[in-house]
Amino acid sequence: MKAIASAALLTLGFATFAATTASAQDISAGERSWNKCRACHQIGEGAKNLVGPHLNGLFGRHTGAVEGYSYSAANKGADITWDEAVFAEYIKDPRAKIPGTKMIFAGIKNDKEIADLTAFLKQFGKDGKKS
Ligand code: HEC
Repeated sequence: MKAIASAALLTLGFATFAATTASAQDISAGERSWNKCRACHQIGEGAKNLVGPHLNGLFGRHTGAVEGYSYSAANKGADITWDEAVFAEYIKDPRAKIPGTKMIFAGIKNDKEIADLTAFLKQFGKDGKKS
């Protein structure tokens, strides 16, 4: 009886572990997702503004805060501080979250992909260095 109970516990423990691992954010998957942004954005040390502003230190940054980048009035005036929840909402449908944005991007609908992309982006501090 005791053996059965501990076997059951072990199985339960393993199932929990597997579930946690499967739902964890995956930086390398996030890096693949980043390919969708690279035509317009740079990130990392020495990142420059391209079609869109560089995305170093995005989380905690205010909308329209990158110096030397010419934002649309919509983006500049959005008065949003980027955190994970706001970013997730935005990247699903940028024009719904910031009407009038000049970012032409259909959006990413998959929550797991958004979580992975977020994990990838979060690595880069304001100076573009990975923390
Ligand atoms: C076709 C070009 C293009 C693509 C592709 C694109 N963006 Fe953008 N992005 C822009 C432009 C242009 C802006 C500036 C919008 C404005 O000023 O209205 C912008 C703005 C942003 C902002 C707001 C930045 C700020 O400082 O307020 C975020 C965040 C962002 N993009 C993330 C992404 C991510 C993540 C991806 C990939 C999943 C992506 N973008 C794909 C062009 C693009």
